[in-house]
Amino acid sequence: MKFLVTGSAGLIGRQVCKDLSEVSSEVYSGYNESKPDYGVPIKMQLTNFEELKDAIAKVQPDVILHLGAMTNVDLCEKEKDLAMKINAEATEVLAKQAAKLKAFFVYVSTDYVFDGQKGMRKETDPTNPVDFYGKTKLEGEKKVMNLASSWCIARTSTPYGIHPTKKSFPFWVIENIKEKKKINVVVDQFTSPTFVPNLSQMLIEIATRQIVGLIHLAGASRISRYEMAELIANKIHLDKMLLTASKMDDVKWVALRPRDSSLDVSKAFTILNEKPFTIESGLDNFLKNMK
Ligand SMILES: NC(=O)c1ccc[n+]([C@@H]2O[C@H](COP(=O)([O-])OP(=O)(O)OC[C@H]3O[C@@H](n4cnc5c(N)ncnc54)[C@H](OP(=O)(O)O)[C@@H]3O)[C@@H](O)[C@H]2O)c1
Repeated sequence: MKFLVTGSAGLIGRQVCKDLSEVSSEVYSGYNESKPDYGVPIKMQLTNFEELKDAIAKVQPDVILHLGAMTNVDLCEKEKDLAMKINAEATEVLAKQAAKLKAFFVYVSTDYVFDGQKGMRKETDPTNPVDFYGKTKLEGEKKVMNLASSWCIARTSTPYGIHPTKKSFPFWVIENIKEKKKINVVVDQFTSPTFVPNLSQMLIEIATRQIVGLIHLAGASRISRYEMAELIANKIHLDKMLLTASKMDDVKWVALRPRDSSLDVSKAFTILNEKPFTIESGLDNFLKNMK
């Protein structure tokens, strides 16, 4: 099976390309500015639609895993046209090309398609994004549903993993506490933190079994940022007193954030062999791997 991955140097994409390279010799890694560490690199600037079409025509993939996106939530709020172009219009181009080849299309989406009024959302719950990033990703979902011939939309939440340049939340917590710096962490924002290697295995299972439909692929625990920071500090015996509880309203974000964007992962738990990790097992694996 031949795979083409966009966003292959990103936090999630890098892990997916690394893991895919262990099961397939035909992994093509679409990239923008940062060169991928795994797979055969192929330039795929998401605002250059001709380049996207050419790349797909050249590779002729069986499966496209579309992970490339403008992920900076505040930047999306400020640069709306660019965000829509990268997150929705490029997805439209890719989904159409996939349909021509009858390639299976996996689109990684986000918990930010929900408004956060209520957590533990199921795949059947209504979407209502509160920020522009969420709106662009939801538009991307609609393009995939309407245009790809065979697809899976996998929504994830607060990914954390090991990456040479991208510091996910646990790194930030550990680094600051070790340097004896006080950090403000919100107590009233809840998500389903997702350990990237676990997500990668779930995505690869979806891609290889060609599981069709909408699915929540996230961690199995709903937790606040503050509780997660406390758990990390406890696990490695760091000083919790350096954590200062703050509220979402105190943070000077440009875009609104959903208050509770935790995801119900019971569908993934039932149908996948690779099960969503709890926060305990995700963090234990993270801490073991960062050494
Ligand atoms: N991070 C989160 O909190 C989160 C939560 C839920 C869902 N997701 C979704 O998960 C997917 C992967 O996210 P991630 O966490 O791995 O994000 P990431 O680390 O920010 O990686 C994003 C990737 O997209 C690429 N990209 C950005 N703009 C591009 C452009 N114009 N043309 C081509 N490539 C471009 C980046 O390449 P360059 O660096 O070279 O520009 C990078 O490889 C995304 O679809 C995202 O919406 C993320």
